[in-house]
Amino acid sequence: MTNSTIALIQRHGSTRKYKSDPVAPGLIDQIVLASQRASTSSNLQVVSVVMVTDPGARAQLSEICGKQEHVARAPVVLVWCADLARLERVCRLRGYAQVTNYVENFLICVLDVGIAAQNGALAAESLGLGICYLGSIRNNTQAVIDLLQLPRLVMPVVGMTVGYPAASPAVRPRLATSAILSRETYAPATHAELHTYDRAMIETGIYQGRQVPVPGKTGEMEHYGWLEHSARRASQPHRTDLREVLKRQGYALE
Ligand SMILES: Cc1cc2nc3c(=O)[nH]c(=O)nc-3n(C[C@H](O)[C@H](O)[C@H](O)COP(=O)(O)O)c2cc1C
Repeated sequence: MTNSTIALIQRHGSTRKYKSDPVAPGLIDQIVLASQRASTSSNLQVVSVVMVTDPGARAQLSEICGKQEHVARAPVVLVWCADLARLERVCRLRGYAQVTNYVENFLICVLDVGIAAQNGALAAESLGLGICYLGSIRNNTQAVIDLLQLPRLVMPVVGMTVGYPAASPAVRPRLATSAILSRETYAPATHAELHTYDRAMIETGIYQGRQVPVPGKTGEMEHYGWLEHSARRASQPHRTDLREVLKRQGYALE
């Protein structure tokens, strides 16, 4: 069973090649309006979005994102921010002191950001636009804060390039649903499910036939696949400055 919404969701692929055509401001308004319609914890609406179109600023964001070319090329970069600054004013207006220093305060914001951004992503894709999320803005979060002049309690969480795709992006396979869905109590993915997915990802050609040693078997080689890619990614520390940046922005994570 399917419908046009599910078909749109199933067609998703991240776009990293954009035409130079601009995106009409009205479309960005639609995207942000869609993001606002998402569920939001206690209706607090703790999300703000900074739209970046200035080529110089996009070039700086591209540098921060590890020189990702599509960040400079896409006509629009949206930076999705956790924003407790607005509630700070609300509290002041009503004579309260806001609490912002617990993990829960930031978790509420980050969840709202993710949910809102994904509504925006689907709206963009429904309008024929392509998107790509940019966790890499957190390569240098402080530089993003400075560039966008984000005040205390406004924390950039994720970026998103938006523009018209130069070509239809590939639709990457995902793990089998049975690997992530348990019934009543938790059941881990099976070895077979992980290996089947590894092969499916290798078959997409994304890893370009790279070979890696088989763990524990000297001299034997096998295809670099999703297992190796993910294990490498997950076994390295990343963006270890974030606790400090968060603290400076007013999120102490106690
Ligand atoms: C939170 C988040 C951060 C991401 N950051 C980046 C990024 O910095 N650069 C990039 O090219 N893709 C980024 N992506 C895109 C993922 O790499 C992509 O969604 C994933 O490989 C699956 O591919 P697909 O979206 O084409 O299905 C990010 C995705 C998410 C959800």
